[in-house]
Amino acid sequence: MKFNTKIAVITGLFVFVIIGIVASNPPQEKYKNLKVLPKNISEQTLEKVMDEFEKALGVGCDFCHVKPADSTAEWDMADDTKPEKEIARKMIAMSNKINKDFFKATTKYGDENAVLEIHCVTCHHGEPHPEMKEEEEEQIEQREQKEQKQQ
Ligand code: HEC
Ligand code: HEC
Repeated sequence: MKFNTKIAVITGLFVFVIIGIVASNPPQEKYKNLKVLPKNISEQTLEKVMDEFEKALGVGCDFCHVKPADSTAEWDMADDTKPEKEIARKMIAMSNKINKDFFKATTKYGDENAVLEIHCVTCHHGEPHPEMKEEEEEQIEQREQKEQKQQ
């Protein structure tokens, strides 16, 4: 008798826990191929992050994502063909690390209401390639020539 009650209670608890797990973890991973952004990111936040990338680099989605040849076809945003997308992943990881290590940020790219000091735009200023300014390049060249003469 006592043994059966125990089993009933344990089974009951087990079912309860399983229901709890299923209910709190609805299988709604919207995006297929996120490696640095949070996998459970909301649609709203993902769109905000992607818009930020576009503005910071002064580019369109097709800078990192493959634009379908057929303009009526749907884009496959999970596709990793373009090397720019992989570079962008490294850049997200780098920015997260700078923010965490040097600015004590507790949030990172893709978190809801992330507070970040360093953003893509901090370096990129609307350019895909934040090159050095021409004057800076000339100065470096002159310095190198001087150093060569001294040797
Ligand atoms: C500077 C590069 C860059 C630009 C520009 C960019 N994206 Fe992305 N996008 C990424 C990277 C990198 C990822 C993957 C992030 C990761 O691995 O966590 C991604 C992932 C996505 C995903 C998720 C795909 C999946 O299922 O895994 C969607 C949707 C998306 N981007 C939409 C857009 C849209 C729409 C635009 C234009 C408004 C855009 N992106 C512009 C770099 C970019
Ligand atoms: C600390 C400065 C810095 C930050 C912050 C930064 N970048 Fe960059 N990024 C660079 C530099 C410098 C280069 C050029 C590297 C080179 O010449 O090879 C670059 C190159 C890139 C490229 C390659 C461009 C090309 O033409 O091939 C992509 C894509 C990119 N960054 C995306 C991003 C995104 C997205 C972010 C924000 C998540 C970001 N970057 C944040 C400095 C930065």
